Amino acid sequence: MSATLKLLRALSDPTRLRIVALLERDELSVNELQEITRLGQSRISTHLGLLQESGLVQSRREGKRTYYRLRTHAEGATGEFIQLAIRGAKELPEHPGDQINLKRILGRRHEQAQVYFNQVAGRFDRVYGPGRSWQAFGHLLLRVLPPLVVADLGAGEGLLSELLARRCKKVIAVDNSEKIVAFGAAKAKKNGLKNLEFRLGDLQEPPIEAQSVDLVILSQALHHAEEPAKALAAAHRILRPGGQVMILDLLKHNFEKAQQFYGDRWLGFAESDLHRWLEEAGFKKIEISVVAREEQPPHFQTILAGAEK
Ligand SMILES: C[S@@+](CC[C@H](N)C(=O)[O-])C[C@H]1O[C@@H](n2cnc3c(N)ncnc32)[C@H](O)[C@@H]1O
Repeated sequence: MSATLKLLRALSDPTRLRIVALLERDELSVNELQEITRLGQSRISTHLGLLQESGLVQSRREGKRTYYRLRTHAEGATGEFIQLAIRGAKELPEHPGDQINLKRILGRRHEQAQVYFNQVAGRFDRVYGPGRSWQAFGHLLLRVLPPLVVADLGAGEGLLSELLARRCKKVIAVDNSEKIVAFGAAKAKKNGLKNLEFRLGDLQEPPIEAQSVDLVILSQALHHAEEPAKALAAAHRILRPGGQVMILDLLKHNFEKAQQFYGDRWLGFAESDLHRWLEEAGFKKIEISVVAREEQPPHFQTILAGAEK
């Protein structure tokens, strides 16, 4: 049968005209079409089968459900036939009722989504959201980062370095633990990150050439330094003019066991101390703020300090 004949046959039935008109606004499942038209499931399925065969309707599966929609970008004869069918459907006595039911079904769909978000409003950041994670946000933010040369001081096994290396020109990860450096370097190699270089060294005197990096990161590392001011002076030294230092650390706390549990030298820092050391090192445009507070005791708070050379 020719394509035109198939189209004519598909539209030679008032129920199929109704279905085409209903699919004009949005895709619908067989169940939804059944609820709107009050027709039996097998009748609707047969009609949909014919409409699909003629090329007027297409479908997609979502789990166990199949959704039907008018063929997108229908051009030429198909597009004209769709318009004709919609006009024809408007002349049918069922049309006004169909449209009222359609509005109701689409409204209910919208409400179902709203019910969930209304329930979690105000605590959205604390409830589980499928696929939502800080790691994913990190990747998103990385995409807007220019191709920088980065020094990650006190890098550990390179959790952050690895993330940065996927976007940055080069990342130099410095740590004073031989074991950690060996582990991090092996992991970077395994992950094919050729632009991530691990170096053994002290963050107070990093083995990095002066004025050679665009960004220095100290993530939960500064409180391990004997002399934090010396580490910040070193950060200033290795930065190119206009480069930035970014520090993530703990706000001053009194959980003394941190020294025993985590090997910390300093029980976090007061914002004023960090500000002073950054200024003494020669940094400008200093910005410091508390960016996170843990829910569990001892309620560690994270400060983010940024400054420019
Ligand atoms: C808490 S971890 C932080 C690791 C990583 N920056 C992160 O945010 O996941 C601290 C790291 O600093 C390293 N470290 C401690 N003192 C250091 C120093 N003086 N020079 C260089 N690295 C140091 C430790 O070996 C450890 O890997």
